[in-house]
Amino acid sequence: MFGLFNKKTATWLGVDIGSSAVKLVALSRGKRNLCLDSYAVVGLPPAAIVDGHVQELGVVAEAVEKGVKICGSKLNNVITAVPSSAVIIKHLELSNAFSEAELEDQVKIEADQFIPYPLDEVAIDFEVLGPHALDPDLNRILLVACRNNDVIQREASINSAGLHCEIVDVDTFAIERMLSFISRDNLKEDDLVASIDIGASTMTLNVLHHGEIIYNREQGFGSNELTNSIHIQTGMSVEEVEQSFRLNEISVEVEAMLIEPFRHTIAQQVSRALQFYYSSNVQNQLSKIYLSGGCSSIKGLVEILEEELGINVEVTNPFKEMEIQAKINKERLLQDAPVLAKACGLALRFFDQR
Ligand SMILES: Nc1ncnc2c1ncn2[C@@H]1O[C@H](COP(=O)(O)OP(=O)(O)OP(=O)(O)O)[C@@H](O)[C@H]1O
Ligand SMILES: [Mg+2]
Repeated sequence: MFGLFNKKTATWLGVDIGSSAVKLVALSRGKRNLCLDSYAVVGLPPAAIVDGHVQELGVVAEAVEKGVKICGSKLNNVITAVPSSAVIIKHLELSNAFSEAELEDQVKIEADQFIPYPLDEVAIDFEVLGPHALDPDLNRILLVACRNNDVIQREASINSAGLHCEIVDVDTFAIERMLSFISRDNLKEDDLVASIDIGASTMTLNVLHHGEIIYNREQGFGSNELTNSIHIQTGMSVEEVEQSFRLNEISVEVEAMLIEPFRHTIAQQVSRALQFYYSSNVQNQLSKIYLSGGCSSIKGLVEILEEELGINVEVTNPFKEMEIQAKINKERLLQDAPVLAKACGLALRFFDQR
């Protein structure tokens, strides 16, 4: 697609701008596998990203710049993403007789019918997925639309940090790529696998079937609830709570009084999200759930989810099969891997298996 196989030494950087932190993952082609060159997680203040929108561009750019310094290599080619809540995704079926220009016009006409904003305020992109299975005269088209402002702000956050933002993707596609990548060798033909990402403010369920996300649901729920209740109950500042998570220094009292019930709240939220999925689909049972985001570091969560849901649950480590640069602390990486899942899925775009 991009002729990337010629650029054997190139490093590509995926940047996930989350509500609590910016995550950077730099991948290159190793000797046998892909190689994790470097990564960084840089915290953001609560006002920087609100409801998925960049509110403080300078602060986000600073965090990206700090991340690049931590990564320590010369990085230029960047892909970032807008959250799925900010985009409208539509599958169209259009005649394959259209020329490229005609197709573009036709897509705009179709888009105008369901996008609730004036078209000049919206960034539109589309991809021809291939011929329709039942009608060879039709092509399946994937249409993605997003408010210009969301794209511009994210692009500007990257470019202001001295990088070059090549692509603004959608986070669902990053998860699709990451899930396909990690589950590619152990999926049976009809297996359905899910990714559940629980970050600071958002929980997202994605279901993958035959390499494509067939279900996506986002809801406002995340570790902020826990952090705030620890802050209120113990008098620790939010920063101190975050620090105690990072250093694995959670007191026995906090564990018993607040984290234990939060584990059950997560199990309830996940269970409810799955009920929505099952009730909206005639699909079969999920064969596996990959857990990602900061909340997957909560001890004992996997066991509770498996018990409640009766499904195999695994904490996501997208780097399991990759080569890892010698300078990276492997123990630390194991702990950080689940929050890097989306950034990894972004960087993977440059290495699409063809
Ligand atoms: N051991 C832990 N126990 C509980 N919470 C944790 C733990 N480790 C990290 N977290 C929480 O995870 C959060 C970071 O997760 P993540 O990086 O996935 O969020 P984000 O991507 O910024 O948020 P979102 O995706 O919701 O916008 C931190 O704010 C922290 O509160
Ligand atoms: Mg996130």
